[in-house]
Amino acid sequence: MIGYDPFIPYTDWSALDFAAAPWRMLERFGNLILRRRRTEDIPKVLELMRRVYQPPHGPEAIWRQDAMAQHERRFREGQLMMLDPTGCVVADSTAVVLPRELALRPHTWSEATDRGTLATHDPEGDVFYGVDIAVDPAFQGQGLARRLYEARMTVARRMGCRWFAAGARIPGYHLLADLLSPSAYVAEVVKGTLFDPTLTKQLRLGFTVLFMLPNYLKDVECCDHAVLIAKPVF
Ligand SMILES: CC(C)(COP(=O)(O)OP(=O)(O)OC[C@H]1O[C@@H](n2cnc3c(N)ncnc32)[C@H](O)[C@@H]1OP(=O)(O)O)[C@@H](O)C(=O)NCCC(=O)NCCS
Repeated sequence: MIGYDPFIPYTDWSALDFAAAPWRMLERFGNLILRRRRTEDIPKVLELMRRVYQPPHGPEAIWRQDAMAQHERRFREGQLMMLDPTGCVVADSTAVVLPRELALRPHTWSEATDRGTLATHDPEGDVFYGVDIAVDPAFQGQGLARRLYEARMTVARRMGCRWFAAGARIPGYHLLADLLSPSAYVAEVVKGTLFDPTLTKQLRLGFTVLFMLPNYLKDVECCDHAVLIAKPVF
């Protein structure tokens, strides 16, 4: 875990909009800053995505800039990220609020997000839906995702959501795809007999597997499969 060090200065405090933050969603985590993402942050977020989704992932694994440019307008409170003291984005997350009729039934990533534009956002919905979360490989395993999920849970509570759901990646599946069906692989990960670099961590974060989402998103590591995970908002 990264220790709190108040003496490491953040180089660009002027970029942090305390006043504009409706719920003061800005905090320190060690020497990192957690705050809402703004449109001008997009180039740095795309750099992070390229570090996270290296080959064999292709360009389809990286956000489309035009889609991402709509996120702040659609649901500004739902887009949270973390920066290091130099202003480099080391973690990023995207979310939308959806009606349960869409979020808790079989769907694709594109259907849930309207091709990543978040045009599906419905403030009256009762499911806070995690569209994406990515932590810089150099910072993984240090609690950054846990901190982002806690902050997202705060937003979900304030939005009046009852469920936090997401389509979870299973990036370890391609290694065993010749031996196991996607659902048999997930069953082993849930049992703890197999480790998946993403799903295992999300189970540790308190999520439960609901059902498989075949053809969820083009993803070489997951053979295009994902799994719907959820937990109650408390
Ligand atoms: C999935 C991802 C966001 C997790 O981020 P992270 O910062 O490494 O996660 P954390 O360090 O907060 O760990 C979360 C939990 O998993 C556990 N965990 C982390 N690394 C682990 C490991 N190697 N083995 C077992 N458990 C592990 C942690 O202990 C923690 O649980 P705890 O708080 O109860 O101890 C990150 O691995 C990532 O960006 N992956 C690539 C992109 C991706 O697949 N995103 C998900 C889209 S659905």
